Amino acid sequence: MHSCLPLVAAGALFASAAIGADKPVNAGPYVPSPTSVVADMLALAEVGPKDFVIDLGSGDGRIVLTAAKVFGARGFGVDINEKLVKEANEAARAQGLSDRASFGIQDLFKTDIRKATVLTMYLLPNTVNMLKDKLLAELNPGTRILSHDYPLAGWIPEKYVQMDLEDKVHISGVTTTLIYLYVVPARAEGRWSARLPAALSKEPVRLSLQQQITRVAGAARIGGRDVLLEEARLRGERFTFRLALGGRTYAFTGTVKGGAIEGTVEGGALKDAAWSAAPAN
Ligand SMILES: C[S@@+](CC[C@H](N)C(=O)[O-])C[C@H]1O[C@@H](n2cnc3c(N)ncnc32)[C@H](O)[C@@H]1O
Repeated sequence: MHSCLPLVAAGALFASAAIGADKPVNAGPYVPSPTSVVADMLALAEVGPKDFVIDLGSGDGRIVLTAAKVFGARGFGVDINEKLVKEANEAARAQGLSDRASFGIQDLFKTDIRKATVLTMYLLPNTVNMLKDKLLAELNPGTRILSHDYPLAGWIPEKYVQMDLEDKVHISGVTTTLIYLYVVPARAEGRWSARLPAALSKEPVRLSLQQQITRVAGAARIGGRDVLLEEARLRGERFTFRLALGGRTYAFTGTVKGGAIEGTVEGGALKDAAWSAAPAN
């Protein structure tokens, strides 16, 4: 993939950062997202008044400021560049947004991101990938992650938008702009003991699930044979799959939450019939 952030000339940025003895990892030089990309990112994630947006490497604050002003959200941004953080807080004050948008001088790798319902970043490609473990460890299932230009390797994006923008030419030499939207998945991996409607199984069914970040696959052991889960999908806490049994296909929908799965199944004579699963011993 082409490089949309200049990969050089970023080192000098840290000279003014008053954030402690450890020199932070350089996650990218200051290159603001074009305002149209900011609006498109926030619209893609359907940001609204209930959201708390955190921008890692917030620059002049435009993402969090736009989220507050246009989309009614709250949030904060962190940056290691003192001057940019000051500028962003001044802009929040000037726009009457200080109660909903604030900015701090902080290393983004050490920032507590647990409060985010939407997390945004426009960082170097290796940095985006260095953050993968942190994102999975700290963000709640269902949190939306927006990345400008660079993907999270191994994650399946929920949505993906590509556009051409003239104002990217002076940054990267090309017009290509990408926005990736991801949804943090719940943990579904493991062996579950499922209770299905009696029409499908009178006995508890063993459900074996394998998960690789946003990908999930597995099988249900029913009537002494393993039936593969078809079209298994995990989006945040929402887990859906199909099972082909006795010549019919049943559509399962469930929520993976609090160490259990609960949901409904449809197919044949079944409509909104309850099913659930608990971790198997
Ligand atoms: C490409 S700019 C993105 C600015 C803004 N998010 C936007 O999209 O307009 C990346 C920002 O990350 C900041 N940055 C780089 N390394 C950082 C680190 N370790 N901790 C916090 N901020 C960092 C830079 O100072 C720069 O402002």
